[in-house]
Amino acid sequence: MEKLLKIARENIKNAYVPYSNFRVSAVLELNNGEIYKGVNVENASYGLSNCAERSALFSAYSNGVKKEDIKTLMIYTDKDHFVSPCGACRQVMRELMEEESKVILANSKGEFKVMKNKDLLPYGFTKEDL
Ligand code: THU
Repeated sequence: MEKLLKIARENIKNAYVPYSNFRVSAVLELNNGEIYKGVNVENASYGLSNCAERSALFSAYSNGVKKEDIKTLMIYTDKDHFVSPCGACRQVMRELMEEESKVILANSKGEFKVMKNKDLLPYGFTKEDL
């Protein structure tokens, strides 16, 4: 967790947040040890902004990663409280990560909150519903 926190802290500077000034950094760790990073990337047309969690997942998938490869997603902000993923990200995480994958929230104090992906979206809509 400390290793992921270090990476998340270093990468948060890349958040493109001219509108909210609210920086989020996400780090994906694969089972083979590979790392994919994401930050929130905003747009003048606010609704087109992308959260850090989705940036990290889309980057990983763009490079051939599959859900079974993903071990952990850490979500870090430079605030002293925990920030948990928005509803849109939870929906994407539910589809692109295993139910049992670990989701770790981390704050500026270096504290962690560990949960499972499946616990973030109870009664979620999935491809099994189609
Ligand atoms: N944001 C994330 O990147 N992840 C979250 O979990 C919550 C919100 C971003 C979206 C927007 O760029 C900024 O934080 C303020 O909402």
